[in-house]
Amino acid sequence: MIKNLKIDENLEKYIRENSYDLHPVQKNIIEYNNSLGNQKKMQISVTQSYFFQFLIKTNNIKNILEIGTFTGYSALTMALALPKNGKITCLDINEETSKKALNFFKKAKVDNLIEFKIGPALKSLNEIKQQNLFFDMIFIDADKENYKNYFNACFSLIKNTGFIIIDNVLWHGDVADPNKNDKLTSILREFNSFLKKDDRIEKTILPLGDGITICRKI
Ligand SMILES: C[S@@+](CC[C@H](N)C(=O)[O-])C[C@H]1O[C@@H](n2cnc3c(N)ncnc32)[C@H](O)[C@@H]1O
Repeated sequence: MIKNLKIDENLEKYIRENSYDLHPVQKNIIEYNNSLGNQKKMQISVTQSYFFQFLIKTNNIKNILEIGTFTGYSALTMALALPKNGKITCLDINEETSKKALNFFKKAKVDNLIEFKIGPALKSLNEIKQQNLFFDMIFIDADKENYKNYFNACFSLIKNTGFIIIDNVLWHGDVADPNKNDKLTSILREFNSFLKKDDRIEKTILPLGDGITICRKI
């Protein structure tokens, strides 16, 4: 009996062919990211993007916070699933990739749904907290060293029914390999056991893309 499938490029292509078509600008961003070489790995996978859109459309999600936007693929994906009165706040430290993302948002005509805050995310999160803003969904996908800080900050910004989603929790599978003990692998292992112990949340790790954890307050 097959318990788990390995989602290789071929199978991901099959999933794409049997799901709805990607928006032309999503395809543009994927092409652009592919031209960047190693950096293309920053972008979430297509299967993750289908899951995010499903979650947004079926849970009446309107206000989203994204920590780590890069060239905009995940933010555009989420914006395309939002209702007309929805909003995404994007936090990123990199001005250049944020400009690139903004151009893609304009091309897809969703820039009116997206607000950028450029700078260190912890600083922006602090400003957001002072403004008493709350979100239906928060996606954490920036520097792994700060994952615990981001999660703690986000816990007070997420609505009771909202979802916090964290990317890269399986770290190319390295978290389960005892021979891998580099700094980032250790940080992600520690983060995963930190979340496991948090009894204020329901959570599950899903092996989509590089692995995501989805959490909701109990
Ligand atoms: C993995 S990429 C995000 C990928 C994006 N979600 C996507 O699917 O295309 C991580 C991003 O986090 C940003 N980043 C890294 N450190 C940061 C910090 N301290 N504050 C804000 N953003 C940061 C980087 O500039 C980069 O764009």
